[in-house]
Amino acid sequence: MRFILFVGASNTLAEFEIEAQIKGATLLQPNIYLFESSEADTAQKTASKLGCSIKLAQELRGVLPSSQSIADLVKSKNFSVTILDGFKDSPQINQEIKEVLQKGRFILSKDQFGLSPVLLKKHKIDEFFIDQKNEEVWQTVWIHDFEHWIQKDRHMPFANAKAGILPPKIARSMINMVPMEPNGKLLVDPFCGSGRILVEAAELGFTVGGGDILAQQVKETKVNLDSLSYSARLEVLDATHLSDKFRQVDAIVTEPFLGKPNLRPDQIRYLVPGLQKLYLGCLKNWLEVLKPSGYVVIVFPSFDDGKHIYKTSGIIDGKLELSYNLLKRDILYSRPNADVRREIVVLQKK
Ligand SMILES: C[S@@+](CC[C@H](N)C(=O)[O-])C[C@H]1O[C@@H](n2cnc3c(N)ncnc32)[C@H](O)[C@@H]1O
Repeated sequence: MRFILFVGASNTLAEFEIEAQIKGATLLQPNIYLFESSEADTAQKTASKLGCSIKLAQELRGVLPSSQSIADLVKSKNFSVTILDGFKDSPQINQEIKEVLQKGRFILSKDQFGLSPVLLKKHKIDEFFIDQKNEEVWQTVWIHDFEHWIQKDRHMPFANAKAGILPPKIARSMINMVPMEPNGKLLVDPFCGSGRILVEAAELGFTVGGGDILAQQVKETKVNLDSLSYSARLEVLDATHLSDKFRQVDAIVTEPFLGKPNLRPDQIRYLVPGLQKLYLGCLKNWLEVLKPSGYVVIVFPSFDDGKHIYKTSGIIDGKLELSYNLLKRDILYSRPNADVRREIVVLQKK
């Protein structure tokens, strides 16, 4: 069976998350991926595991892209048909289907992405996509649980903006860059902040552990995890001494301390060496913590003082190459209007 997966346009990690999680997926159009799966259930499970996914449509084999054959499939009062390879022609077929049905209401999409999950759910809309050139018809079979994502983004007991909040979907995509099935494996975030990464990892089925240098942050992580009935082993510790408390870890996924926010441009060049020393200390210590072939997914900040771009990820080009395989780098993510850009790097212990 073939499926098309629609991904969030602002999730710049989508390409890498899909590459790690869906074998053979190909980019059909910007933010739309095509993949095969033997079961509809498996495809939906895959989509619901990803941070980048918005909705999933399944190919309707044997259904012709004609108004009559699509009208036969409309079950709800509302429907919407979007032509993938000729979006502007969509109104005509919607009108024709309405005439065949002699009832119902159609909702036109604003682009080839179709309708938003919020609209689809609220108005119970049967949504179809047509590929005219290849004579294919697709129907939306799954949408992301936007209410749950909003709850995790905005309504957790603690969301401390000063500690740097990672959007939950980005945290999920980072975890999915670890090419490993969760199945109770141990994932640790040594800079856990308010626990965004650990919440997502627990939801995926990892056993989770975390640390932070501030007791208050550890408490916030615990309360946030508790609010969703997850538990974790949490410690107040310096991330460069993670080996004092954790061993035999399968994966470390973390957004470390990125420096004080709102720095003046002239302060940046003094900040960068200190951060690099911290990250180097961590990556050395984590060699004692990780199992052989264990993974690290880590954010390195980049700063621009107007004259020069400082990339803290430069440290992985030195002696660390002897201890870690560099699996991916240059995966960029930044929040709108942020003065720090984030580069995500995936390493594997040698
Ligand atoms: C960017 S925040 C992490 C935010 C987290 N990803 C979240 O979304 O909640 C960095 C965290 O690192 C902690 N921190 C700073 N220096 C540390 C160190 N040397 N060891 C451990 N934690 C440290 C800070 O207290 C802060 O909570």
